Amino acid sequence: MPVLDQLKDLVRTHTCGELRPNDVGSEVVMMGWVHKVRDMGSLIFFDLRDREGIIQVVARDISSLLTKAKSLRPEFIVIVRGTVELRSSDTVNDKLDTGAVEVTVVEILLLNESKTPPFQIANDSQVAEDIRLRYRYLDLRRPRMLRNLRLRHRITLAIRNHLDSKGFWEIETPILNKSTPEGARDYLVPSRVHPGELYALPQSPQIFKQILMIAGTDRYFQIARCFRDEDLRADRQPEFTQVDIEISFATPEIIFELVERLMIRVLEEVGQIPARPFRKITYAESIACYGSDKPDLRFELVIKDLSDIFKEAKLAPFRKVVEEGGAVRGFVIPGGAGYSRRELDDLVDEAVTFGAKGLVWVRRSSEGVLQSPVTKVIGEGLLSRALTQADADADGLLVMVADEPTNASKVLGQLRLARAKRDGLLDSKRLAFAWVVDFPLLEWDKEAQRYVSMHHPFTAPFDEDIDRLKGMPGQVRAKAYDLVLNGNEIGGGSIRIHDSHLQRRIFQLLNIGDEEADRRFGFFLESLQYGTPPHGGIALGLDRIVAILAGEASIREVIAFPKTTTAVDLMAGAPSTVDSRQLRDLNLRVDS
Ligand code: AMO
Repeated sequence: MPVLDQLKDLVRTHTCGELRPNDVGSEVVMMGWVHKVRDMGSLIFFDLRDREGIIQVVARDISSLLTKAKSLRPEFIVIVRGTVELRSSDTVNDKLDTGAVEVTVVEILLLNESKTPPFQIANDSQVAEDIRLRYRYLDLRRPRMLRNLRLRHRITLAIRNHLDSKGFWEIETPILNKSTPEGARDYLVPSRVHPGELYALPQSPQIFKQILMIAGTDRYFQIARCFRDEDLRADRQPEFTQVDIEISFATPEIIFELVERLMIRVLEEVGQIPARPFRKITYAESIACYGSDKPDLRFELVIKDLSDIFKEAKLAPFRKVVEEGGAVRGFVIPGGAGYSRRELDDLVDEAVTFGAKGLVWVRRSSEGVLQSPVTKVIGEGLLSRALTQADADADGLLVMVADEPTNASKVLGQLRLARAKRDGLLDSKRLAFAWVVDFPLLEWDKEAQRYVSMHHPFTAPFDEDIDRLKGMPGQVRAKAYDLVLNGNEIGGGSIRIHDSHLQRRIFQLLNIGDEEADRRFGFFLESLQYGTPPHGGIALGLDRIVAILAGEASIREVIAFPKTTTAVDLMAGAPSTVDSRQLRDLNLRVDS
């Protein structure tokens, strides 16, 4: 058993990131983790670390001190009492904020030892993610992770303060809910008191926030934990956090302005000021021009429709596609005219992996001669017109896909992103916001052979499209909007249906009959009948926003205790089996 010192009534005077040259001469008491020890015999240096930074400590002369300092190992917890001194100019460490000074120690107290950590606590240590997650408490000690947690805290606080200043109330809604699945699968919690009955964890507080508008709260927000049992990716966790907002008497413009000003306040935390209003782009334009409903607008490479040109192609395969309702679309890769044969082949292969049946390229050589593998079949004249219409400059390579129009754009959209990544166009310092608007209300689910909501079933249709609900439901536009940042969907919302009759009609269109609607949503349909104000709102993905602003590729880096992509908590070991008594209490039996 090591002999440990006690904290007693010693009080910390400074954190490890705080000392500067004007503190020289001060007597200090500091507490933290031993970061690194450098034993020079009669002189021992060690770095002391806490969440605020690192300070160099030096033990010299006194033999009892040197013995104690020699016994220190990384991640031991110590108290250091000493005097701040200036470092000599040749030992100043510019990488540390405290690098101009050091603490000459007069007393070291060892508060606790540490096992040898499985990895070094440093930003640049390359550690497998499963090890990081298993020892998350050590992983979080790394300055980068602490910086992320601090940023998340600052952003959450800024959001709370801003919404409070705009008259919003933060109201909590239940975690144990009635299951009303739509979209993802629910996480279910069995009830002990009501055998055979289950609660569902909220996929979002959607119905409750609407009921809060009916209840007269007028402006609500919540930093809400949501739970969805769906396939996970870098930007998806089974439990995640939304900034959930709802406003009575809202128009989309009111919500756009609120959210844009909120984002500006959030961006102050990272020293950025985006211009507003944010760009608006319709869903149809976004799909056609960027091949995605979450376009990355940090760079252009806009997809253009060139079908008109190829209608005239004699004997060309392209003409047939256009005649049959398809499209020829393409975009120009700047500098692509200089690609080697090999690079061109790779490009075609890449397009095929994205689902293209083929990819046609066109360019001019440095002598201005038109080159394309299809010059013979399509003819120089049309290809030259295509280059002009696509705004290709001398060093640009036009790439084209002929297919069903949306497919053509989607393939090109993926190629556009992959090229931008390869060519370094994804500047992480740039923030390109956009609202995607005018979504279709419904989309046809081929598998289920029915319409499903593109957002959720509470989204209001365009007033002028309501007549189309009968006969042309696929053409009805929704008062829905997504907020997109650098190709990520960071929020989604809508103006809601506040008329209970219309809400029933939408359920019917979704193949949810009256009886089923009453069983699943009866409480909500009833509440709608008691003087529901028009209302609308949005939910912003807090994890995604923080990850982007922290420059992290995965939201796991900005969540203190995330799950793996198979929804496992490697540190705590969840999910796990439970003992048979717990199951019995819940009237559950597990078949394995
Ligand atoms: P939606 O389902 O679009 O809307 O969710 C809103 C935002 O939450 C984020 N998000 C996620 N983040 C991490 N992991 C996930 N699994 C995950 N799923 C969604 C996204 C998304 O834009 N009730 C509606 C909002 C409304 O209409 O007001 C809703 O939940 O950034």
